[in-house]
Formats: sequence, structure tokens, C-alpha cells
Amino acid sequence: MKQFSPFLLLSFASANELAMKPPMGWRSWNLFGENVSQSLLESIMDHMVSRTRSVDGVPTSLCDLGYCDVGLDDNWQACGSYSDSHIPLNFHDEEGTPQINFDLFPDMKSMTDYAHSLGLTAGWYGNNCICREHFTHDRRFYEGDVKMFIDLGFDGWKLDGCGSKLDLQLYDELLTAAGVEAVVENCHWGMRIAPPFEPTLDWCPWNFFRTSGDVRANYASIMGNLKSTYKYADSLLSRPGCWSYPDMLEVGCSDGPGGDIDKGLTSEESRSHFGAWSIISSPLVLGMDVRNATVMDAVWDVVANKEAIAINQAWYGHAGGPFKSSTDRFTTLSDVNPAEVDSGVLKHRGLKEYEEALKETGSFRTPDWQYLYKPLSDDGSKFAVLLMNSRDEAADLVLDFTDIPNFKGGQVSVRDVWERKDVGDFEGSMTVNVKSHDAAFFTVSVV
Ligand SMILES: *[C@@H]1O[C@H](CO)[C@@H](O)[C@H](O)[C@H]1NC(C)=O
Ligand SMILES: *[C@@H]1O[C@H](CO)[C@@H](O)[C@H](O)[C@H]1NC(C)=O
Repeated sequence: MKQFSPFLLLSFASANELAMKPPMGWRSWNLFGENVSQSLLESIMDHMVSRTRSVDGVPTSLCDLGYCDVGLDDNWQACGSYSDSHIPLNFHDEEGTPQINFDLFPDMKSMTDYAHSLGLTAGWYGNNCICREHFTHDRRFYEGDVKMFIDLGFDGWKLDGCGSKLDLQLYDELLTAAGVEAVVENCHWGMRIAPPFEPTLDWCPWNFFRTSGDVRANYASIMGNLKSTYKYADSLLSRPGCWSYPDMLEVGCSDGPGGDIDKGLTSEESRSHFGAWSIISSPLVLGMDVRNATVMDAVWDVVANKEAIAINQAWYGHAGGPFKSSTDRFTTLSDVNPAEVDSGVLKHRGLKEYEEALKETGSFRTPDWQYLYKPLSDDGSKFAVLLMNSRDEAADLVLDFTDIPNFKGGQVSVRDVWERKDVGDFEGSMTVNVKSHDAAFFTVSVV
């Protein structure tokens, strides 16, 4: 197993030292789509810090668990507010200043002040998709964005891939020149104005980068987006300050902007999704309606699992990824009609791999079962392991400990992350029955 060497950080281009652990928070798109407003965001903020639920008997808020960034997504802008023959449907004025939809967001600065007063950070959203701009990539538009980002007091920024402002290096230079540190999400799906299109070992002017098209609230989408991160872990391109990101969490989300494709996840699928995002060190960005007690009761034990979160936040040289999978492929997603993907609201978002897979086969093919791991020590003595079953029926999955990369051998003690209980000591292998679309989540420690 290759290990990420911290001294490489010395030549890391990104000036900020933020996001040394995968960022955690909430963002509006997965559930609310275009239906955002200042009042919605502020009431979400209230619920991120309210301690109405408990962990181990202690009243605990989502922010107490680490989910402290609340981010806005698309549709805050006054679409078409400025227009001429060169820049139709623009929402920047001639000087490059973005125009806010004041009906929805009467005072964005007071919204970010409100976040800060609650101990939260606030995320903005740029290079928009709704009312995206195809021609406004002169430097003054970047400068206008950066000035407003600073004036409004935002802490982080999701820079989407729909408009023409794809120069993240320039955003980084402008922020750095202004002395501002911001957590930046590169949501360009590998697009830039010039190569390199992806991070290299010594260059990454953002803190996390999208590896796939948009995730949707169905199992096939989750599995497709998960797979898109694998190459980055093994090439050590997902690491502190520059994490690969298969998109926001769909736990607790259904009936979002994807329509029928957002049918929602079962409880088994929800924990597979959360377990997978945790073990590959993905940023954990919730999207569900945190104001809804029914939803929160259903997902609380998953998203508030401190042991899963600790695995996500740990760093021992490898971001986490697959180490074994069946050669048999299981075809899933037969219940989604590819035509819906083509014609739906999602089309302009570029679903890439997921969409292509749908077009090819009408379904997404994923291994029957696959095992993921992440090291939890430097010496091969502790790991997290996720055993995923994608079949339509339960399966006995056998974990041979010597298959885990860098495992130093010997007797191990196994702990169930979901149950937060020790399972016992094992030597050689263990077998676990995993329900359809569920995932067993363990830590394995040499005794
Ligand atoms: C947004 O609101 C409109 C009007 O109420 C509704 O039809 C639509 O389904 C909503 N979209 C989402 C993603 O909730
Ligand atoms: C809360 O979520 C449940 C389950 O999705 C839904 O049936 C209900 O309508 C929601 N309540 C509100 C007030 O949105």
C-alpha cells in the first residue's frame, strides 16, 4: 500500500491549511433544489445547533458532532438581472458584481452573521448552474465574486461547473491576495480552462473536489458515485486539504430535485451510503430536512454515529478504498427509466458516469459484494472495514484478514461500528451475514 507522505505538503500549492480533515456540514441542493431562501437557511442553522437529540445520553447537536458548516447552493442569484447582447441572462453587472435575488435573500450578510453567532460557518455557491453564464469569464467577474464573498462574510465556497468561470487557480490567487482563507469545493467534475484537470501530488488550489456527476437518492447512484473516488485514493490524490468527494449525502433525502430518481434510500441503503462516505474520507455534507423530526429520528443513529465519524476524520496515510470485490457484477437500477434522466431537471447538470451507464444498459452494474478499508494506524495494526452487499438478497460475506492491505497479521479484535459493540477476537477470517444493500462496518485491531 502506498502511503501519503506529509512532507509532500511542503510543495502543496493550495496556500490555505484548511480542511485538514474531511469537512462536515449541510448544503441545500439534494433536498431543496432551487427552493432556497434566507429564512430556510436560517432555520436550518437553528436546527444544526439545537440539542434535541442525544448521543450516549448527552444532548448533542449536529454541530457538536462536527457538522458545523451550512452552505447555500444554487438559486440565490437575481437571474437575468443584467443583460446585453454579449452576456444574456447575466446576474453580474458590467463591473462584475453578482446580483442577489433580494426577494429570497433580503440580507445575506445578516445570514452569515447569524451563522457565526451560532458557532457555525457559512458556505456560498458560485459559477452557478441555474442561470449559468457562458461568456462572463473576464477577470473582473472573478474579482466581483471574490469581493462579494469577502464582503458577505462567507467562510467556504462551492464553485460549480456550469458557468464559464472554471479557473480555480485564479480564484485561489485572488483570495490569497486578499488575505482570505476559504474552504473551496471544486465542483467542476474535472473541467478547467487548462490542464491539469485534476489535482496532482503537489498542486491542488481547492480543499475538496467532486469526482462524479450529481448524486441522487437511490442506491445505484450512490454506488456509481462511490466508485468514482477509487482511483484517487490509490494514487494518493485524496488527502488532507484536498479530498476527493462523490457529492453530498442523500441520507434522509427523498423527493428532491431529481423527481422519481430521488425515490429515497432504505435504512440499509442509508447506512451503506454513510459508511462508504465515512470510510473513503469523503467530506460529510448532509442534505436532509433537519427541521423534520420524523426524518431526524429515522437517520439520527446513522449520522450521529461517533465511531463512523471518527473513522472518516482519521488520517493514517491513505484515504480509504476498495481492496476486494466479487468478479460477478450485479445489475441494479432496473426500476429507473433512462429517459427520465435524459429529460429531467438533471440533464444540464451532467451526470457523466451515471448517465452514461444508464444509456448503455438502462441500469448500473456494480460488484455483487465489495470490501472497503481505511488504515487507522501507521503500523498495520488497526483498520476500518466496510463489507457491502449490493445483491437483492442477504449474503454471507467472508473477510479474510490477510486480504486487508498492509495487515501485519495475528489475532484481531473486531468491533461493530454500527452497534458500537465489540464482536470478539478472531484469527484468519470471519463471516458475517449482510442484508441486501446493507454494509457491515467494523474496526479490526491486532491484539
Ligand atoms: C420547489 O417548489 C415548487 C413549488 O412549491 C415545487 O413544485 C417543487 O417540487 C419544489 N422543488 C423541490 C426540489 O422541492
Ligand atoms: C417530514 O418527513 C416525513 C417523511 O418524509 C413527511 O412525510 C412529512 O410530510 C414531513 N413533514 C414536514 C412538516 O415536512
